[in-house]
Formats: sequence, structure tokens, C-alpha cells
Amino acid sequence: MRFLTSARVQLLLLIALLPLLSLALAPYATIAVLSIPGVVTLAAAWVISHFVAVRPLDALKSAARRLAGGDFTARAALGAVPRELWDLAQTFNLMAQSLELREAERLRSEEGARRQAAVNARLLEETDRRLKDAQALHAIDTAISSGLDLRVALNILLEQVTNRLQVDAAGVLLLNRHAQTLEFASGRGLNTEGRERPSVKVGEGPAGRAALERRVLRVDDLSGAEQEALGSEDFVLYYACPLVVKGEVKGVLEIFHRSALDPSKEWWDFLDALAVQGAVAIDNAFLFSDLDRSNMELALAYNATLEGWARALDLRDKEIEGHSQRVAARTVDLARAVGMGDEELVQVRRGALLHDIGKIAIPDAILLKPGPLTAEEWLVVLRHPIHAYELLYPIAFLRPALDIPYCHHEKWDGSGYPRGLKGEQIPLAARVFAVIDVWDALGSERPYREAWKEEKIREYIRSQAGEHFDPKVVEKYLEMP
Ligand code: C2E
Ligand code: SIN
Ligand code: SIN
Ligand code: FE
Ligand code: FE
Repeated sequence: MRFLTSARVQLLLLIALLPLLSLALAPYATIAVLSIPGVVTLAAAWVISHFVAVRPLDALKSAARRLAGGDFTARAALGAVPRELWDLAQTFNLMAQSLELREAERLRSEEGARRQAAVNARLLEETDRRLKDAQALHAIDTAISSGLDLRVALNILLEQVTNRLQVDAAGVLLLNRHAQTLEFASGRGLNTEGRERPSVKVGEGPAGRAALERRVLRVDDLSGAEQEALGSEDFVLYYACPLVVKGEVKGVLEIFHRSALDPSKEWWDFLDALAVQGAVAIDNAFLFSDLDRSNMELALAYNATLEGWARALDLRDKEIEGHSQRVAARTVDLARAVGMGDEELVQVRRGALLHDIGKIAIPDAILLKPGPLTAEEWLVVLRHPIHAYELLYPIAFLRPALDIPYCHHEKWDGSGYPRGLKGEQIPLAARVFAVIDVWDALGSERPYREAWKEEKIREYIRSQAGEHFDPKVVEKYLEMP
């Protein structure tokens, strides 16, 4: 929104420069002041620069209001703005820009989550509901990682309040919605060292009334009790200014001064603009910490979802209860033994739990067949890692865990499937898992053969080092208890 045309900008710049000119001519001030035209010039310059200063402030205020109303495209014009307002307007614009980017990011993630929903509808029905919760995880993740820190935002706000409004001290109280109390969050210039500021009930005291009545309250002589709460400072003047955004009170901005003050309309406008910005900052920070909490809950829901899937797969494969969990635990042990780090181990565990999720595309007639497979039946079995890839890839949260489901049937000598990868082309997690998968398969009864004894399995795995398996992984496996 432009509030000045460029012709007017030039004119106003010229006018705004007049007082500077008179400063530069300070040594000659006596002469200037003594001459009648000098006095007229100075007076005119003062009146006009005052007028110029008020306009951009109004523009900034209206931009701040739009921002508070959810219009993240709001920007303050940086035209013929006096120096101190220019800083303010620029900070405002930076903040608005970061909000706008964040909002765009959020919308993008939501679109991504919607697309995932379509793909996942094909997955097992019993876990469908939990999966939906989980999809929000990615969107929230992105939002949190770009969130502003509330403490930083409040410090910036209080710095602006004390510097620009020329007051001795200021503080922010945040509304605790559940307890209906205001709690001290941040201060500047306050002498509250070592003292807990007691929280204030909404409706009580000047701050509590400002929050309840949603208006600025002024106290000209702070009573003994209130002074006491503040650390017995000698403040004379106190303002409590509600921080409101989208119709909701977020907290109270307190202003303290040690002498009387007679604020101008400009001062009030400025306070108004800062209060709106403060409320927006608090609103955002709260939004993100709420999301932080649901993020944790969703991570738990996610793990529960995976375990639900793994159990459903075991059931279908006629595996015994807890089979997948044991295989996953043993895979993590071996992965740790070959030197994988904790973060990788999280993905290894998820990947191992889901290693055969692609088998849901294999018909029972093949999976549970008592004898050897025909060539056509093998073609179906060979596709199960590709199915796993197609099912899991669209889920951002599970993408890093894909190595095992996709590559667990590759072999060290390049004779495996689906891609015929060789040696270290095969992801390490998959090389580790392959050993555990075969150990587990041979130790279990299959419709087409008996379970093998542990000693026979060890011998078989040793014999496959350098053929089916990575020799270094086999070495670590044989050292395992
Ligand atoms: P699975 O039974 O879980 O076996 C996983 C892997 O363990 C097999 O991958 C193979 O590398 C190894 N393995 C399992 N059983 C034996 C065995 O008796 N001898 C040897 N030397 N290795 C064994 P693979 O071969 O790619 O098989 C993938 C899946 O295909 C198997 O999973 C199983 O579900 C199915 N399958 C494989 N062979 C047959 C079969 O003869 N009949 C039927 N019905 N299904 C089979
Ligand atoms: C300002 O610099 O104008 C205020 C900054 C803020 O409240 O974030
Ligand atoms: C498959 O492994 O992927 C089918 C059988 C298995 O690996 O357990
Ligand atoms: Fe498999
Ligand atoms: Fe398996």
C-alpha cells in the first residue's frame, strides 16, 4: 500500500530535510533565530516535519492491524519516513515477511499431507485412523522448524518500548488461559532481581483489569502494595496495555516511568502499533508451542501405527506374536555393532519393522504355498520390495527408513533383487538386515520346510559371507552373543 506518490515523496523529503539544515547551521542559530524569516522557516519546518512523521506512523499502524488480522502481505511503506520510524517500519516488514513465508510453508505442507492421504487410503484399514494423525506430523514439523522464539520476540518488543517511547521500564505479562492469570514473562529496566513476580488474576489490579476490559489503564500513583510487588522501585507512572490479536487477549504490556509523563498522540499511536506487534508475536509463539506438544503425541501415534502394521503383517504371514519386534531389536543390535549412530538406528528399527510391508501385495496362495514356487509365482514375490518402496515413499516421515524394505533382498555379489546392487552400493542398513532376515527365516518353520537349528544357521550365514552377505557384517554377527 503506497501512501505517497513519488512526486510527493521528493517534496516531503525536501521539507523533512529543513530541520536538519537548520541543525547544520546551528553555529549561525542566533542569527537565524534573530531574523524574522529564520523564525518562520524553523516554525514551518517543525510543523511540517511533525505532520510528515504522523502519516507514516498511521500507515505502519494500519499495516500492523492488517497483520494482526491475518493478512501476512501487510507491509509498511518505507517512503519519506523519518530515521527512527524507518528502522521501525523495516523491522516490521522483516517480521511480516517471516510470518508470510511461514504461512506459505504451512499451506504447502498441508497440500503435501492431503496428497499422502490419498495414497495411504490403500493401506491396512485397522491403522487408517492413526495414520491420518500421523500425516499431520510432517506439516507440523515444517511449521515448528521455522518458528520464532518468544523470548527473542519479547526482548525486541521491550527494547522498542523503552527506547522509542522513552520510558524507564517495561514488562510483558502473558495470559494463562486455563488459570485465567497473567504471568510475568519478560522485563526490561525492572529491578526484580531475585524476586518472583506473583501472577495476577484477570480482573484484579490494573493489569488484570486492562486484560478484562481490553483497554489501557493508567495509574498515576502506584500504591504501596503494587510497588512492593515490583521490587520497591520508585515508579510514579504505570500503564497496563492489553495485547490483543484476532479478538483474543494474549497478555498485558506494562510501562513504568519514574517521573510524570504527558504522552502525545504520536506516543499513543506508537504504543498501539507496538502492542499489536507484541500480540502477534505471542500468538505465533503459542501456536507453535501448542503444535510442539501435539508433535510429540503424534510421534508416539506414529510408532504405534508402525507396530500395528508390523503385527498385522505377522498375523497374515502366520508368524508368532512379537516376531517383527524381535527381528527389529536384533537388527538394531547388529547395526550398532557395525558402528551405526543413534539417529540412523531409529530409521533402522522402523525399516526392520516394515521390511516385508510389500508382502501385502502377495496373494495368500503364493505366500502360504506348502511347496516350491513356480517361475510366475516368483515374479510376484520378487516385486515385494518395489511395493514397499511405492507404499512408503510418499510418507515423508518414513522415507528415511526405506533402505531396508527396498533393499533387503539385494546380495553382496550382485545376484539379488530388485535392482541387482552390488557390495557397498547396497545401503548398510539393508546389508545388516539381510543377515538377520535370513537368520530369522531359517529359524522359523515355513509351509514348505522345517525350522533350522541355530548351529546350522550360523554355519550357513558364515558360508554366505562375500556371496549373499557383506563379510564385515557377518564377522560382527558371529561375534554377537
Ligand atoms: P522368508 O521365508 O522370510 O525368507 C527370507 C529369506 O531368507 C529368503 O529370501 C532367503 O534368502 C532366506 N531363506 C528362507 N528360507 C530359506 C531356505 O529354506 N533356504 C535358504 N538357503 N534360504 C532361505 P528369498 O529367497 O528372496 O525369499 C523371499 C520370500 O519368498 C520368503 O520369505 C518366502 O516368503 C517366499 N519364498 C521363498 N521360497 C519359497 C518357497 O519355496 N515356497 C514358498 N511358498 N515361498 C517361498
Ligand atoms: C519494531 O522494531 O518495530 C518492533 C519490533 C517487534 O516488535 O518485533
Ligand atoms: C521377504 O523377505 O521379503 C519375503 C520374505 C522375507 O523377507 O521375510
Ligand atoms: Fe522380504
Ligand atoms: Fe522377511
